[in-house]
Amino acid sequence: MASTSFLLLHVLVMFSLANIVFSDLSDDFYDDICPQALPTIKRVVEDAISQERRMGASLLRLHFHDCFVNGCDASILLDQTSTIDSEKTARANNNSARGFEVIDRIKSEVDKVCGRPVISCADILAVAARDSVVALHGPTWEVELGRRDSTTASRTTANNDIPTPLMDLPALIDNFKKQGLDEEDLVALSGGHTLGFAQCFTFRNRIYNETNNIDSTFASQRQANCPRSGGDSNLASLDPTSALFDSKYFSNLVSKKGLLHSDQALFSGGETDELVKTYSTNLRTFSKDFAKSMIKMGNIKPLTGNEGQIRIDCRRVN
Ligand code: HEM
Repeated sequence: MASTSFLLLHVLVMFSLANIVFSDLSDDFYDDICPQALPTIKRVVEDAISQERRMGASLLRLHFHDCFVNGCDASILLDQTSTIDSEKTARANNNSARGFEVIDRIKSEVDKVCGRPVISCADILAVAARDSVVALHGPTWEVELGRRDSTTASRTTANNDIPTPLMDLPALIDNFKKQGLDEEDLVALSGGHTLGFAQCFTFRNRIYNETNNIDSTFASQRQANCPRSGGDSNLASLDPTSALFDSKYFSNLVSKKGLLHSDQALFSGGETDELVKTYSTNLRTFSKDFAKSMIKMGNIKPLTGNEGQIRIDCRRVN
């Protein structure tokens, strides 16, 4: 009896593992339908980054903000209408999420080269994120493909599910857990902050009011371009090398120079300290784990098969 239940448990565990490892997506999804799709995305992403280095960071963040709100289904791209509750004006995205024009350009060039709309906006976001990281000297990975696009969006879910920069470690862990991501994913993916910038209002409280866990020289340097009042949208880079994928984000955390409260929370005496330390001196390990966690994030609740649609215009439901 005991051995039968053990066997049953074993089978159940294997089955759920298989579900995690093998998604409905596949890396060769467009190989036959439109072999030019992926090279076209890469070309447009590289071109956009050569015009503005920051765009790589912005495209990476778009994919993250898409996946954390009801899965990677391009819901973030939908504009407000009488029936669409756009996520673009949710707290984390309003006057902050950027890169929508680049996605539009990719979509129109890909549809042109493919002769018809075959590639989803959700897949474009996933591939553009990978190509951005590669263009900024980060790791590469095989993007799993075959996501379809949502016909709905939810500002409320975006407000509830995208993590905020004021969160402490337990809240961050909990937030990622709700998406099926563990503490290692949290630390590795937060390393996305090796790229890009944040606006003054997102780190003001940290540089003026936090005393623990912040290097005082770093705080005064940041205060120079982020006044106590006003200057809300003034930018500071999330790590010292905002257009280079490196391990400085983590070495910065070790020296208490994390820009956001949520960044420093990963190195503040809690259970993620060790992994932050490892990544701070080991770019290879960080890169490998980052790629692995990006695939995992890209697999959050995709629409597949007959679900959703392939949008013609990423901003609108067909
Ligand atoms: C762990 C929880 C996270 C929090 C609380 C958070 C919060 C933020 C905030 C507040 C900003 C600045 C936005 C602005 O000032 O307009 C930002 C920027 C950014 N985030 Fe995160 N983030 C998190 C995780 C991630 C993840 C997982 C990724 C990607 C894998 C990512 C990628 C980025 C990038 C690349 C930027 C810079 C964007 C740009 O310069 O346009 N973040 N994040």
